[in-house]
Amino acid sequence: MTDLQQELARVLLSEEEIQTRIKEMAAQIATDYAGVERIYMVGILKGAFIFMADLARYLRTNHVVDFIAVSSYGRKGVESGEVRLLMDLREPITDEHVLIVEDIVDSGKTIQYLNETFSGRQPASLKTVAFVQKEREHIPVSVDYLGFTIPDVWVVGYGLDYAERFRTLPYVAELKKEVYTK
Ligand code: IMP
Ligand code: MG
Repeated sequence: MTDLQQELARVLLSEEEIQTRIKEMAAQIATDYAGVERIYMVGILKGAFIFMADLARYLRTNHVVDFIAVSSYGRKGVESGEVRLLMDLREPITDEHVLIVEDIVDSGKTIQYLNETFSGRQPASLKTVAFVQKEREHIPVSVDYLGFTIPDVWVVGYGLDYAERFRTLPYVAELKKEVYTK
């Protein structure tokens, strides 16, 4: 076992499950956007970069990619707080079919903030796709495409981190409680 694995409680989503589901999601998105000239995929850094890469490569619809960075200030790094835009898009999204690509919906604050921010920029359409959503109470937000629902625990891997660690694991695992509560 590597040092990283010793800090994990259990694997929640295997690499194979993830890849199978993302292919399905890409197929669903391609069907729904049939006839659309191009999809303007907006990935939310840093967490969504791996999901975005796989989803975009499976997506058989003309698309472009861009990224924004947001930060939610929390007390410990595992609590979400106020959402701030750290890095904006390079181009206006007026008349574009924007698809926000998020890693995880936890409190729902980030998705809510992004929906509000982008809907004010007159896109032709605005939808959201999230890799996972936690089973917990959250702000009523609309997620148009959702990969998986997971328990309300701290998860890492497949883009998700704890203090910048574990991001590039190919699977999603629950972090041992003692790692993030100490
Ligand atoms: P929100 O609470 O829905 O606004 O989510 C805020 C952000 O916290 C997400 O975009 C993630 O970057 C991060 N986050 C929430 N839960 C987890 C988790 O279990 N692991 C890693 N990052 C998380
Ligand atoms: Mg995030």
